[in-house]
Amino acid sequence: MQRLLVVHHSPSAGLRSLLAAAVEGTGADGIDGVEVVVVEALEATPADVAAADGYLLGTPANLGYISGALKHFFDVVYKPSLGVTRGRPYGAWIHGESDTTGAALALDKITTGLEWRLAQPVFESIGPVDEQMGAQCWELGAAMAASLMPD
Ligand SMILES: Cc1cc2nc3c(=O)[nH]c(=O)nc-3n(C[C@H](O)[C@H](O)[C@H](O)COP(=O)(O)O)c2cc1C
Repeated sequence: MQRLLVVHHSPSAGLRSLLAAAVEGTGADGIDGVEVVVVEALEATPADVAAADGYLLGTPANLGYISGALKHFFDVVYKPSLGVTRGRPYGAWIHGESDTTGAALALDKITTGLEWRLAQPVFESIGPVDEQMGAQCWELGAAMAASLMPD
């Protein structure tokens, strides 16, 4: 059984709906042999990260960066994960009001340091959460889970 770890910070109804869509997508028809573990960014541990085979991250853009909660996640897991998680696949969604550029850059820099492999394009969305954004997060979840399916 492969494990996909979903680490998120979802402090608004819109963000929670994106999370729900992404998690629902991981259970798409035909996906088998992938266990999905969902953890709030403030609660995730280095052991959670070490035990997973791939990662799906969700964050708002805050003050031109990823959320403080997801930053805290990386502060906690970065060093223990170095080397141990090299090459593992990840995906992410970032939602904001006006500009997600800084958050996307930060995520790229951190995951480059960890040597994680971007398995799906980062999904960036701006403005009120709508059905289309939910559908994109669903697809992202489905694609990440499918990519982890054992042969
Ligand atoms: C302190 C603070 C800083 C924020 N900074 C940004 C930002 O830099 N870029 C951006 O696009 N949105 C920014 N936002 C908006 C949040 O990303 C947005 O409220 C969150 O994604 C929830 O979106 P929703 O209300 O559409 O669900 C900020 C919000 C707060 C509270």
